[in-house]
Amino acid sequence: MITCVLASGNGSNFEALVNNGVKVDLLITNKPNAYCLERAKNLNIKAVVVESLGQDHLSYEQAVLQVLKDNQVELILLAGYMKIIKETILDVYEGMIINIHPSYLPDFKGAHAIKEAYEAQVEYSGVTVHIIDKNIDEGVYLAQEKVMLDPSDTLDEFEAKIHQVEYQLYHQTVKQFIKERKLWKEH
Ligand code: GRF
Repeated sequence: MITCVLASGNGSNFEALVNNGVKVDLLITNKPNAYCLERAKNLNIKAVVVESLGQDHLSYEQAVLQVLKDNQVELILLAGYMKIIKETILDVYEGMIINIHPSYLPDFKGAHAIKEAYEAQVEYSGVTVHIIDKNIDEGVYLAQEKVMLDPSDTLDEFEAKIHQVEYQLYHQTVKQFIKERKLWKEH
């Protein structure tokens, strides 16, 4: 299955996917200086920048869609992708866009999930891998894992624990998803 990762920043989840055996054919980023580009280079993975700055969302998504089509992408994995995916891409790839979110959804949606959970001093937060739909941080959950917040944890320590779970849960879930899709297609 031809697979593309969309990322906007550091890209540690992208790298963990690759290093754990998920075949990633392409990386697309909307940020020309994002560190994920460096990682793609080191991992020998084709990378394309579609800069989002300075263009409206529709034109930006059309440009991304064109790159996806040119590369015959079938599955999209979001890994720290900071743009909202709207109909232009969603309608073409419905059910085939997976996201990883650093909380035990539906708690703590949005871009500051780890910090907010920490500040609320929750008993636990976690990680969710889900298929996306038009509502932010919603859609069918594929996998969830809790991460306990120890009262002695600093924010950095808590964040590190969440990332460690992400690096395992994402590749396991994606591999399972691809396996099930293949079985389903064969029937
Ligand atoms: C991760 O915590 C992911 O769950 C969230 O954004 C972060 C991206 O980190 N969506 P990285 O760019 O993969 O290092």
